[in-house]
Amino acid sequence: MDRILITGAVGQIGIELTEGLLSRFPASRVVASDIRSAAGAPADIRYLDITDKAQIARLVMEERIDTIFHLAALLSARGEQNPQLAFAVNLGGLLNVLEVARQHGVKKVIMPSTIGAFGPDTPKIDTPDDTLMRPTSMYGITKLAGELLLDYYSRRSGIDGRSLRFPGIISSRTEPGGGTTDWADDFYRKAVRGEKAICFLRADTRLPFMYMPDAVEALIGLALAERSRLSRSVYNVHSLTLAPTELAKFLQSIFPDFEPLYQPDSRQSIADSWPQSLDDHHARTDWDWSPQYDLQRMTADMLKNLKPKRG
Ligand SMILES: NC(=O)c1ccc[n+]([C@@H]2O[C@H](COP(=O)([O-])OP(=O)(O)OC[C@H]3O[C@@H](n4cnc5c(N)ncnc54)[C@H](O)[C@@H]3O)[C@@H](O)[C@H]2O)c1
Repeated sequence: MDRILITGAVGQIGIELTEGLLSRFPASRVVASDIRSAAGAPADIRYLDITDKAQIARLVMEERIDTIFHLAALLSARGEQNPQLAFAVNLGGLLNVLEVARQHGVKKVIMPSTIGAFGPDTPKIDTPDDTLMRPTSMYGITKLAGELLLDYYSRRSGIDGRSLRFPGIISSRTEPGGGTTDWADDFYRKAVRGEKAICFLRADTRLPFMYMPDAVEALIGLALAERSRLSRSVYNVHSLTLAPTELAKFLQSIFPDFEPLYQPDSRQSIADSWPQSLDDHHARTDWDWSPQYDLQRMTADMLKNLKPKRG
């Protein structure tokens, strides 16, 4: 990992992954890119539209990139609003990245996948790495196809492709980018501000989650793992599970007035098609994956970081 490119570096995960990489590697070796800038984005963000293969190739050659963290994507809820764009960005963009990697000697491509790649027929509890996967959202379809594409290029082109299936990510620093698990981030922010949270899922909808510092460690840990230890290209990673009613109760013990309103919308059917917990023993054995945050630790850290913003 001598010269690292991050795509989608202004997104919820991208901002904090970039910081995580910059804390380990000199700034001259890390190139952050996106099609937009925003508050909290790296100051020297490079413009890169991943649907434009020539642009990717130029940047990769200019910066002599050998490792790509490919994060640019449209998430589940935004993907359902614009399925054609989700296909073009998530799958077309990945194909561009992998082709450029093949043509210009990029050694390693790390791409987050998602629990959205499973589907309604997948076993919901302790979902294994290898199981029936028939996603019904455009996001899930592009991510499952993306996993297969990464694996194909790894076998055919000698690119070292690595992926992990993230659950919903909760962060105190960055706001979520249009996913089906965004309600959890919203609960924390509204509870701290003393505002009413409106939850777009049913109160009992249980889904897996992960706190951002663990997600960043997972990506960097997988990227740095010895190739010889990896038995597969895509790994489940599990941390904790939550239903809205459970997080609401937990937050009520700190903010007694917090009482969300439940107004399930079209995102409910996406959530209903996802697993509730994942079996991640391959990740734990192969590259020592071990999350540090449970609900208590995550909440303490979230509130410590969010509270000063209230005033
Ligand atoms: N956040 C989560 O809960 C979660 C869960 C599972 C998997 N993931 C995966 O992690 C990755 C990052 O997710 P995130 O939460 O940071 O998403 P996000 O929506 O916050 O960020 C995605 C970034 O991609 C950029 N982007 C969109 N189209 C682009 C294009 N054509 N060219 C270049 N950049 C473009 C956006 O500007 C945005 O900054 C995605 O692959 C996503 O599927 C996220």
